[in-house]
Amino acid sequence: MTSGKFEQLERELLDAVAAASDLVSLDDVRVAALGKKGRVSELMKGLGALPPEERREFGQAVNGLKERVAEALARRKDALREAELSARLTSEQADITLPPRARGLSEGRIHPVAQVMDEITEIFADMGFAIAEGPDIETDYHNFTALNIPPEHPARQEHDTFYFNERADGSRAVLRTHTSPVQIRTMEQTEPPVRIIAPGRVYRCDSDQTHTPMFHQVEALVIDEETHMGHLKWALESFCKAFFEVDEVKMRFRASHFPFTEPSMEVDIGYAKVGDEIRIGEGDEWLEILGCGMVHPNVLRNVGYDPDKVQGFAFGVGIDRIAMLKYGMPDLRAFFGADLRWLRHYGFGVLDVPTLARGMSL
Ligand code: DAH
Repeated sequence: MTSGKFEQLERELLDAVAAASDLVSLDDVRVAALGKKGRVSELMKGLGALPPEERREFGQAVNGLKERVAEALARRKDALREAELSARLTSEQADITLPPRARGLSEGRIHPVAQVMDEITEIFADMGFAIAEGPDIETDYHNFTALNIPPEHPARQEHDTFYFNERADGSRAVLRTHTSPVQIRTMEQTEPPVRIIAPGRVYRCDSDQTHTPMFHQVEALVIDEETHMGHLKWALESFCKAFFEVDEVKMRFRASHFPFTEPSMEVDIGYAKVGDEIRIGEGDEWLEILGCGMVHPNVLRNVGYDPDKVQGFAFGVGIDRIAMLKYGMPDLRAFFGADLRWLRHYGFGVLDVPTLARGMSL
């Protein structure tokens, strides 16, 4: 075979490689060139018929050809794969700009807990609070110790904690029993002033008509140089008026004890029960809705703040509880029963976004 013929064969093969428009036809080209009966392999078979002095040169030429064709095949394969992938990425794109189906809009329901979280967020955002978050699986340190609840403190027993198995280093993660660890995480990450709320899930090993193993709280924390109890009372009163959509609320502050606040208080809200209806701001029945107080100096110290320079308040509200109160839902367990009939009755339309301007619960 003359070198001109070699060159012509090479050109033909490389053209075929370049012309292959998909991976299947490229593989056909590979088989036809380098396969057992391919044109390059067939060339090799002619080797034995050659005079010994020509064999070496011929062998080298065939091998060189083989290498170059193999290389071109590999390159083309990469290019085709990439093109195939980008074609798939384009063709399989979901058009999320499509309008929702009308039926979904009228049938879908926002869960009352989600709605109430949105209402709370809206009210506090309007007062200048930012939203903070923390993990559901917490360290013992953030859930307890940093909040001035050292190991062996009796408050730990009151929390009915779900513990994870002990790790090799002896530490034990917990499902957070309250949203208060978000106070710690926020202060660890920012310098004062702080003004945040942190809504989220919390977990306790407890279940009856008014307790579920998972429920929701919203934590609030304000730290600066001069915030005092008057601000706390004002914030709570403003919140309750906006949330329950009443001009006056009756609130009762009772002295209490939480390790992370000093002084500590529990707050009851006054209501009247008229038939099945609950009226906030009237009557002489009381329901406890939250715990609060001035942040304990030890908590401030634990996050590296100087209690001689900064101070502030914190509170924690049970979201499910105030949702029950506001919307007259009698059984907490039904919140998490995934019963569509319940959701249709108590749920909210997808477009009923609570805003202060429009009203909280249209
Ligand atoms: N973490 C408390 C609980 O779940 C509630 C609480 C009380 C939160 C007082 C606070 C607070 O921020 O100041 O029982």
